Amino acid sequence: MSGGWKRHRVADTFFGVTVPEKPPAPLRANLRSEWMLDERVAFLNHGSFGALPRCVFDEQTEWRRRIEAEPVEILSRRREELIDSVNQQLGEWLGMKAADIGLVTNATEGINAILRSLDLSAGDEWVTTNHVYHAIRQAMKYTAGRAGAVYREIEIPLPVQSSEQVARLVLNGLSARTRLLVIDHITSPTALIFPVEQIIAGCAGRGVDVLVDGAHAPGMVPLDVERLGAAYYAGNLHKWTCAPRGSAFIWARRDRRERIHPLVISHYLGEGFAREFGWQGTRDLSAWLAIPRALRFMSELGWEAVMSHNHAMALWMNPMLCERWGVDSISPADGSMLGSMASVRAPRSCSRLATQELMVFQQRLYTEHGVEAPMMRWGDDVLLRPCCQVYNTPEDYERLARAMMQLRT
Ligand SMILES: Cc1ncc(COP(=O)(O)O)c(C=O)c1O
Repeated sequence: MSGGWKRHRVADTFFGVTVPEKPPAPLRANLRSEWMLDERVAFLNHGSFGALPRCVFDEQTEWRRRIEAEPVEILSRRREELIDSVNQQLGEWLGMKAADIGLVTNATEGINAILRSLDLSAGDEWVTTNHVYHAIRQAMKYTAGRAGAVYREIEIPLPVQSSEQVARLVLNGLSARTRLLVIDHITSPTALIFPVEQIIAGCAGRGVDVLVDGAHAPGMVPLDVERLGAAYYAGNLHKWTCAPRGSAFIWARRDRRERIHPLVISHYLGEGFAREFGWQGTRDLSAWLAIPRALRFMSELGWEAVMSHNHAMALWMNPMLCERWGVDSISPADGSMLGSMASVRAPRSCSRLATQELMVFQQRLYTEHGVEAPMMRWGDDVLLRPCCQVYNTPEDYERLARAMMQLRT
């Protein structure tokens, strides 16, 4: 996978920001009809919960039907064989051995499983950055706190200058007591690709294990998990892989694998990573079993084409929105830290909005303007994080640009 993905060519400079000449051409005519999204809405929030292609929805429905027809045959006798086949296909795509994959329902569950499995002593330190996803912040604080360990965040200020700056700040922020670094592959509030390879290499030999929170990575950037060399990796498949909600994975390096167990301890404790994670009590396996259909659908579109298209759209969208709203980009102008989304500062008048007012504002954006876009507070700023998936068109972002100007307080 890696290596084949080319960054979009950029030209022209606008407001100090490099602007592509125009948005990318659609990957295929009428792609939106492959999804089930409401036609009336400019859906710019693929990043939160994903959106299911119709064929993947049908596949999951078919698995639910088959499970109802033969519950014991599928959930019991054929379970391991079916899960192994899913893991084989997933592993082939993302550079993991099937036996090293633990299927989970979402990244929060997977990361909790890792954190709760680790031994910690009083005074040890778990570190992440201020760009961490809040649920993971809570899980780290909670788990570290129970052992009398320290939770600490390294500050990476906006605007971010470069990948090198991020790597330097993170590595300089570690201490002799740091045992674990949780680093986002692609950050949630700020939508930045962090230089995880550089950071992992810098942690080697310093007694710091790295857990990569790759919730957004599979399907947004080329990924070879084993080659990255982290101790642990967690990824969601319901986001950019377009698999059903309830499908995610964790991976642990061979020398760390035996210590990691699911949150739910069940029959197969200690009998192998994939096996142990594959049975966490009776559950609906239809989301996991439909993962291969999502892989097939997206690879038929062409992963390289999908990633390039979405990146090119983000590269065009980011400066366009900055210019329309009169704000500066929070990331380098060449788009080198962007994948398929970009966080953009909202027009300045929005920063006055309190959290509750922000929710009302976002609801009005949806109800009155038909735009679904994530919005969040970041210090004194409000950030919007429009996402780019192949079903989006330039008009979706134009609609967002106009709506924000009409709605701003
Ligand atoms: C960086 C990051 N980590 C973890 C998560 C949690 O994902 P989930 O809610 O699927 O567990 C998200 C969700 O958006 C995220 O963006």
